[in-house]
Amino acid sequence: MSSKNWKNAAFISLIPIAIFAFVIAAKPVAANGADSSHFPNIELITQDGKKVHFYDDLVKGKIVAIDLIYTTCHYACPLETARLAQVQRKLGDRVGKDVFFYSISIDPDHDTPEVLRAYMEKFHVRPGWTFLTGKKEDIIFLGRRLGLYTDPSVNADGHIPHLLIGNEAIGQWIRSSALDNPSFQARMIGDFLDNFKHDNPAEQVSSADGSPMQNFDKGKYLFGRDCIACHTIGHGDKVGPDLMGVIHVRSRQWLTQIIQHPDQLLEEKDPTATALLKKYNVRMPNIYVSDLDAGYIIRYIEEQTAAQEKQASNGNATKAANQ
Ligand code: HEC
Repeated sequence: MSSKNWKNAAFISLIPIAIFAFVIAAKPVAANGADSSHFPNIELITQDGKKVHFYDDLVKGKIVAIDLIYTTCHYACPLETARLAQVQRKLGDRVGKDVFFYSISIDPDHDTPEVLRAYMEKFHVRPGWTFLTGKKEDIIFLGRRLGLYTDPSVNADGHIPHLLIGNEAIGQWIRSSALDNPSFQARMIGDFLDNFKHDNPAEQVSSADGSPMQNFDKGKYLFGRDCIACHTIGHGDKVGPDLMGVIHVRSRQWLTQIIQHPDQLLEEKDPTATALLKKYNVRMPNIYVSDLDAGYIIRYIEEQTAAQEKQASNGNATKAANQ
């Protein structure tokens, strides 16, 4: 493979990391919420017709998730709102207590409080998630300040589904995609921004029925973020080898090493790594995977391999029975 392809592959693999790392430290300059602060204290109107001030009433001292929507949007917004509704269910009764969701209409002329209420009903929005409308110019100004504004001519939607998640009290803000995996969003909102005050955050984020959130698979998430640009598990070679069954032919120690320090293996002239490089003609990049994360990823590869082997043997058994 040419070095250009390698560069492309390496670049693609780094994109999600770059998005994830978009953290802005935003402390309001003026606590009284003057427009000179990071957060304009503009007046907005809730779905119930109540007047509120953006900074003073909605974000000051709170953990929040904010997106811009409009109810007649047919492209990103419905999925965006549906995903956020999933996040709300995953966070359970923490929403409205220590996490607050806000969806602000960028089409306030159409989206009156009444229209917003009907929209909320459609998406089964629960308490703790407020929909807001207001003066168009104020909302455009706010969108620009929050880094959520998109030029309406940018796509058919006139809208990019960003979600701004923040903890105003500690001044930490992350902009992600409102279309991200809801389990990941829930975890990020619940744990990462909550001053890490829970001893075992994974156990604290409860689902709608109050049970701990168990369906967040860290290995799957990490594999999807860091490895999938170059590897599959059971779907053939990509830039790098298909990792299906790799756990049967390599030791755990070697796997840990190639995941964490592929460059070192090559430097040491490890015969397997050298042969792989010769075959694929691309160097597996060092993406600085921690010990803990390497463990999660290997477990995910093991689980995927076992699941696919089981499926294959069931398939064979059915074939044999039909013969
Ligand atoms: C930019 C592409 C790229 C990314 C991203 C990447 N790899 Fe690789 N990987 C390769 C290539 C190419 C090889 C084979 C050549 C080599 O080893 O240098 C390889 C080899 C491997 C091997 C050895 C396979 C075998 O047959 O022994 C494992 C295991 C592996 N990668 C796991 C991972 C994991 C886990 C991640 C994510 C944390 C990851 N890789 C990210 C390209 C990549």
